[in-house]
Amino acid sequence: MQNEVIERAREHFAKIVTDQLARVERMKQGEEAVDFATLKPIIIGFCWGDGIGPIISRETQRVLEYLLKEEIDKGKVDFRVIEGLTIENRVKHLKAIPDDVLAELKACHVILKAPTTTPEKGGPYPNIESANVAMRRELDLFANVRPVKVPKDNIDWIFYRENTEGAYILGSKGIQVTPDLAIDFTATTLQGSERIIRMAFDYAARNNINKVTVVTKANVIKTTDGLFLETAERIAKEYPAVKWDAWYIDIMTAKLIDPKRRTQFRVVVLPNLYGDIITDEAAEFQGGVGTAGSANIGTRYAMFEAIHGSAPRMIDEGRGQYADPSSLIRAAAMMLRHIGVSDKAEQLEMALDVCSQFEKEVVITGREDGATGRDFCDYLLETVKDPYLKKRWQALAR
Ligand code: IPM
Ligand code: MG
Repeated sequence: MQNEVIERAREHFAKIVTDQLARVERMKQGEEAVDFATLKPIIIGFCWGDGIGPIISRETQRVLEYLLKEEIDKGKVDFRVIEGLTIENRVKHLKAIPDDVLAELKACHVILKAPTTTPEKGGPYPNIESANVAMRRELDLFANVRPVKVPKDNIDWIFYRENTEGAYILGSKGIQVTPDLAIDFTATTLQGSERIIRMAFDYAARNNINKVTVVTKANVIKTTDGLFLETAERIAKEYPAVKWDAWYIDIMTAKLIDPKRRTQFRVVVLPNLYGDIITDEAAEFQGGVGTAGSANIGTRYAMFEAIHGSAPRMIDEGRGQYADPSSLIRAAAMMLRHIGVSDKAEQLEMALDVCSQFEKEVVITGREDGATGRDFCDYLLETVKDPYLKKRWQALAR
């Protein structure tokens, strides 16, 4: 009996190793990057998601239709809604991303994605994998870039979270060996570490930011985090002008709430799970996860999303209309910059800063005592349209 159990576990593990070695080979070959300047049209796919997703998507759509009017009219941008990425359709196909939806996604250049419900073990839905995690893997979106800014507190962080490996990639491939023993896996590759670390250093070098912080728990998780840290040490040598330091995730999490220490962090690069956790904490300084957008960047594809989930509790309690759409709108601004519409990205980001950080004339609390997402978006659109927006922003940001 015990031999059988061990054999089954061995086979499971052998399959994981085989798949990961094949993945390493694919990474070694690389992919061709997209040049948005030469693309016509640039195809944007928009997935509205679950829970509060459709509610905040509707507001985001209004903003994008206004900002991209000229590009859409001239055929430079093709904006399509992708319907099938809902929990109902995913459950129906018992797939994180049904095949036809994946094909539709792959026919786009960039994707804007509202939150999708991730079934949890023991919950009402079958145990299908998170659509985010699956999309990040299927489209090889290896960098999860999450900026957090609080100008009045001198906070200006950008997190480069590794997005395709670590505890996540194999999180859905764990094995319940016996009812008493459950094992999950985490995997780190040299190629996977190199590309995210290099992207973080590149960003710092290009923007004259003389500080990259590498976060691991390499004192305990010695093999995988050890490889990540070692790789960082090596890549850092390619950037002699950029200073860097290494922190462990526990003390880094603590120091983020130390007002004296935290302003010294600028560009942070870290494995998947630590990045997941610390970016929620970081977003809290800016006004909560409802205010933070994120970019999932690969060589070929890119996907932009809010950093939070579909908030089923808000829907159950009938509070959906009070959800903050600014996270998804921030993500949309990152998307505009990515496809080369930088002037409009800047316009949108300034308007978001004015509305949710400086003037705050319409405040969302997520509850009845606050404004609805629709009211906030009216205020935001009015601000976007202000011909003196830049002056207004400059005066406030000083
Ligand atoms: C995020 C989210 C996702 C993650 C969930 C929804 C799977 O928390 O984007 O940070 O854990 O990556
Ligand atoms: Mg998260």
